[in-house]
Amino acid sequence: MAKQQNWIAPSILSADFAQLGKDVKDVLTAGADIVHFDVMDNHYVPNLTIGPLVCESLKKFMVREGLSAPIDVHLMVKPVDRLIGDFASAGADIITFHPEASEHIDRSLQLIKAAGCKAGLVFNPGTSLSYLEHVMDKIDMILIMSVNPGFGGQAFIPQALEKLRAARKLIDESGREIRLEIDGGVKADNIAEVAAAGCDTFVSGSGLFGNVNPNDPNRYDTIIKQMRAELAKV
Ligand code: DX5
Ligand code: ZN
Repeated sequence: MAKQQNWIAPSILSADFAQLGKDVKDVLTAGADIVHFDVMDNHYVPNLTIGPLVCESLKKFMVREGLSAPIDVHLMVKPVDRLIGDFASAGADIITFHPEASEHIDRSLQLIKAAGCKAGLVFNPGTSLSYLEHVMDKIDMILIMSVNPGFGGQAFIPQALEKLRAARKLIDESGREIRLEIDGGVKADNIAEVAAAGCDTFVSGSGLFGNVNPNDPNRYDTIIKQMRAELAKV
């Protein structure tokens, strides 16, 4: 299956949570495609973030504001299954989880699909893609971590490029419509090489939300235009 249209996915982990709705509205208005929603539990990863309540409020806000972008929930939690229904009810469109965090990967994928969401697996820098072998038919997204999960603002681990190429090959061979997403340390200056490795969905947290004037409604325009220009070169 050919590469899908490029999606820029702001990670709201780097947004200002005191004005989350405003930040999401402004970044989507500036041209971002989906909202990347990082859920951390202080157990699977050493950090604690946001849960289904925030997802629900954000979804309601987005509907009110006419913002139709999908919410891409990245679960960094263990156990996984308990939260799937909660996030589906809270308006998640895509739910991804780390295979090491689930006792029964196929069951977790089935739960996500049965709840009406797109499903995906997430691969840490040290995790093998072999988890995909028997579940490709249930996967809508493969997320390659280019940092170890838990924090925004970390440096991109270059070995992720090789893993992207390997995942791209698996997707092409499967003939299925599967998105290939990257997460961690993606900025305007490396997004082109990430795209060249086969990625079509680009999470960026600090690269997008960092260093902008919080009161300027057009504060994300320049950086998103820059990212699109870089993507156009590939
Ligand atoms: C890390 C999270 C990422 C993170 C990305 O565990 O999954 O989504 O927010 O942030 P940056 O782009 O700053 O690396
Ligand atoms: Zn993430």
